[in-house]
Amino acid sequence: MRSLTLLLRYVFVTPFAITPFALSAESTMKAVVIHEYGGLEVLKYEDVQRPEPKEDQILVRVIAAGVNPVDGLIRSGMFAKHEKATFPMILGADIAGVVEKTGSKVTKFKAGDPVFAYASLKSGGAYAEYALTTEREAAPKPKVLTYVEAAAVPVVALTAWQALVDTAKLSARQTVLIHGGSGGVGTFAIQIAKARGARVIATASTANQDLLMQLGADVAIGYTKQKFEDVAKDVDVVLDSIGKDTLARSYGVVRKGGFIVSLVARPDRAELDKRGIRGAALSVEPNSDELAEIGKLIDEGKIKVIVSQTFPLSEAIKAQEQVATGHTRGKIVLKIADEPK
Ligand SMILES: NC(=O)c1ccc[n+]([C@@H]2O[C@H](COP(=O)([O-])OP(=O)(O)OC[C@H]3O[C@@H](n4cnc5c(N)ncnc54)[C@H](OP(=O)(O)O)[C@@H]3O)[C@@H](O)[C@H]2O)c1
Repeated sequence: MRSLTLLLRYVFVTPFAITPFALSAESTMKAVVIHEYGGLEVLKYEDVQRPEPKEDQILVRVIAAGVNPVDGLIRSGMFAKHEKATFPMILGADIAGVVEKTGSKVTKFKAGDPVFAYASLKSGGAYAEYALTTEREAAPKPKVLTYVEAAAVPVVALTAWQALVDTAKLSARQTVLIHGGSGGVGTFAIQIAKARGARVIATASTANQDLLMQLGADVAIGYTKQKFEDVAKDVDVVLDSIGKDTLARSYGVVRKGGFIVSLVARPDRAELDKRGIRGAALSVEPNSDELAEIGKLIDEGKIKVIVSQTFPLSEAIKAQEQVATGHTRGKIVLKIADEPK
């Protein structure tokens, strides 16, 4: 009798006494949250409310989340003037996981489907055990990839696609100069350009020359030892992810009528006009159709995914610290749960 009392006390009383939220574990989740803008120290690993999907939303059990340079910029408050912040805020836009639940208007996905997505921050954020996305953002996870690899794809692959295909209209037999070819965007840009039949010249540091060639670059340039303008001449397209001096020196290598697309600065109108070239600054948008097309190229073996390091969710600070170096090889990913069998 005494042992039964103790058991009941353990099951029903003690948990309430120690942790009032113990029975609501179903409705909470671990997430990396910021309560204010600031340095790496504002990233907090906490229990928060698990989100519920609205009628057009998909709740994903996140297995892995990609880390992007922009996550750190948002954390620092760089976009605070343009976007009204709602704190606490969960960072991160790249998710790979399994659909947990769908809103009543969702028709393309159902519970149990493996997906990956560039999930807009407005829906919630990816550095969490559960995240919201929509049909306009999500696509079926490529079958050949692990969830960790799939989480490395959406933002950077869509950026490369929207820069080269949608904006610069890169076509077969054209030559493209890809700056930062060993980074997140660059690794996809090289392979997307090759899949479209273009000739690729790519830049990276000496240590990453091998990676550029493995990804299919026709010419690899070590930017610390060689000036890219001594090698690349009269190219059709430049993809600039570096800006400043790199962008300034790039106008001179583009043929008349060619295109410079920058991810980090607005190309100088006077420089473009003087040389008769076109230019644009790109801001990547979620696009489920394009993500599905990229997924197909991955499943066909035309695009490889390079993940150089993974961190557990609780170590998001280390992950953002590495990404902030500006010298990531491929991608950094947060591994949030075990890969489903
Ligand atoms: N506008 C948009 O929508 C959009 C979307 C995505 C990304 N971005 C921006 O684009 C930039 C790149 O993004 P990411 O995700 O690819 O970053 P990342 O993964 O950190 O890669 C950056 C790469 O740049 C290379 N690099 C550094 N200095 C260089 C130089 N002087 N010349 C050539 N390569 C150099 C590094 O290679 P080494 O280590 O070999 O030096 C590294 O691999 C970031 O600033 C990001 O915020 C913008």
